[in-house]
Amino acid sequence: MSAPHGLLFLSAMPRTLDPELRRALAARIRYYNEMGIYDFYRQPLSVVTEEVSAPAAGDEVEIAVSIHQPEHQPESGEEMSPRKATLVAVPRAIEENIFEVIALKPEQSVNDPVKALQIIREDLGDCTRCVLHTQGRKQIVFGVGDANAELMFVGEGPGADEDAQGEPFVGRAGQLLNNMIKAMGIERRQVYIANIVKCRPPGNRTPERDECATCSPFLMRQIAVVKPKVIVALGAVAAKTLLAMNASMMQLRGRFYEFKPAGVRSNDPEWDGCKLAVTYHPAFLLRDPRQKGEAWKDLQMVMKELGMKAPKSNT
Ligand code: URA
Repeated sequence: MSAPHGLLFLSAMPRTLDPELRRALAARIRYYNEMGIYDFYRQPLSVVTEEVSAPAAGDEVEIAVSIHQPEHQPESGEEMSPRKATLVAVPRAIEENIFEVIALKPEQSVNDPVKALQIIREDLGDCTRCVLHTQGRKQIVFGVGDANAELMFVGEGPGADEDAQGEPFVGRAGQLLNNMIKAMGIERRQVYIANIVKCRPPGNRTPERDECATCSPFLMRQIAVVKPKVIVALGAVAAKTLLAMNASMMQLRGRFYEFKPAGVRSNDPEWDGCKLAVTYHPAFLLRDPRQKGEAWKDLQMVMKELGMKAPKSNT
């Protein structure tokens, strides 16, 4: 029987996840990636069980696939929305491993991190995924710095200066961040800098949770490409989003966390995540300079981890 339109059945596959099955599934997913399909979501198997003669219950799970297609592109006489979901049935045996496989992203076949970051930037496009694109942003502020950096800083979101220049941390807070980096004995161009959200929230308001959730997968992909040894989360929004936990800055600072970017894997099997430290946001330090000493302690912890020595003038 031929599969109904939009459904792919892998039910003939063996139930155990042998390497061949895994390779076949990976190839299939690469095939989807090449067609512009990257996001897969699990959902219950109730929708299609009557339409198809699926194998015994428990053999399959369904994956809804979101397809990135230009607006107004008709398919089979039907207007498609830009992100239309179709359904893919996948053997239950691979359910546990599915996220390993589905995390394949277009940049993962590229070894040059500069090119890989470009691919992510292109994928982001002229982003309209959250409301921030309607709220006065001038441009997307993607990220800047060394694509091979050992140290990465993650802020909250662009302010007015960053929005105008298209680069993170170029305003007053950026100048302080530059001084913090210099105090560590390195230069800004040696680190990678990005934000949780890539568009300026109006009036520099804190980004909403859904905005962070919508935008942060692109940051996760940037992290998986740069493969830093240490990430410094600047402020509570960055820390809470990256760590997916709700705690005060007092609770969050002063220790390292083991960090793996959510929902994506690096194409380097040697890189299995990194350490993450939390410190105060430079904008907060501008408002309360008495906390600079505390921030310096955080950075010293990071320097020790990276085997860095501060220049003499700071010691
Ligand atoms: N504050 C941030 O969090 N990020 C920037 O890029 C600038 C200011």
